[in-house]
Amino acid sequence: MKTTHPDAVTPQKLYQNRRSFLKTAGNGLLAAALTPALLLKAGRRMAGEETLTPYEDITHYNNYYEFSTDKVRVAKLARNFTTAPWEVSVTGLVDKPATFSVADLVEKFRPEERIYRLRCVEAWSMVIPWAGFPLSRLLQEVAPTSEARYLKFVTVHRPSEMPGLSNKWYDWPYVEGLRLDEAMNDLAILATGIYAKDLLPQNGAPVRLVVPWKYGFKSIKSIVSIELVKRQPTSLWMAAAPREYGFYANVNPDVSHPRWSQASERRIGEFRRRRTVPFNGYGDQVASLYEGMDLRANF
Ligand code: MTE
Repeated sequence: MKTTHPDAVTPQKLYQNRRSFLKTAGNGLLAAALTPALLLKAGRRMAGEETLTPYEDITHYNNYYEFSTDKVRVAKLARNFTTAPWEVSVTGLVDKPATFSVADLVEKFRPEERIYRLRCVEAWSMVIPWAGFPLSRLLQEVAPTSEARYLKFVTVHRPSEMPGLSNKWYDWPYVEGLRLDEAMNDLAILATGIYAKDLLPQNGAPVRLVVPWKYGFKSIKSIVSIELVKRQPTSLWMAAAPREYGFYANVNPDVSHPRWSQASERRIGEFRRRRTVPFNGYGDQVASLYEGMDLRANF
């Protein structure tokens, strides 16, 4: 997020996909004969008014700085990342601290599809069919104490498999945080899949957070620990550039990033720009969490 301006870049692959899709769609007979699998591949599965972002784009245009700051290279560099077995510890201000294997969590909580828009701070967005389960269900297992106010999430730190960790600009490991009531909101999920397949490493396998009303950087990948704490954690991005990235990071078209506007966004796979909407369109479910707060000061 500190590198070249991402909006300027549409990897060649995306153009190529789009061209071949247009070619197919232009041929009525062929389009009528497309199987659902082919339609899915062409990115035409709809969710209400919205077109889902093609799987190929979701899995080949990634922010995952532990591998690379180059979105197009992450998939390749992450290919051999070891994602099983995997454990997540949940500790801190809880009555029943525990370590969970991801395989057990999947078995127990049966991830379900949730189609969410993901709005990146860099002003692009995607529509992703996640497979996940509410974070609140995991929290119920550990029983937070009355002292617990925030969650601190940490990504695995594995230099042998993550070449981007040699980038000394950042204070690794990647850390993110949520307020406990945000974490308890039903929209906040732990995702283990996309398009009904297990997550690939580049998308944060085997388990990552998804908080759809916040900028994408809050959705921390490849989580190994969640700690319930009393004070607001400092995220990697807050430490790296406090003027640019705040703790709340709610999608807000009225608060510009110091270096670019947040008023509009480009959906990956489209050319036109769309207006960005407050809370990424999820205001009905989450605006009440911030009643009485100055969202300019708490950006
Ligand atoms: N988590 C970790 N550990 N490292 C990262 O660099 N990037 C964040 C977020 N989670 C990031 C991360 C950012 S900036 C975005 S936009 C989303 O992941 C991108 O998720 P995606 O690649 O699955 O679309």
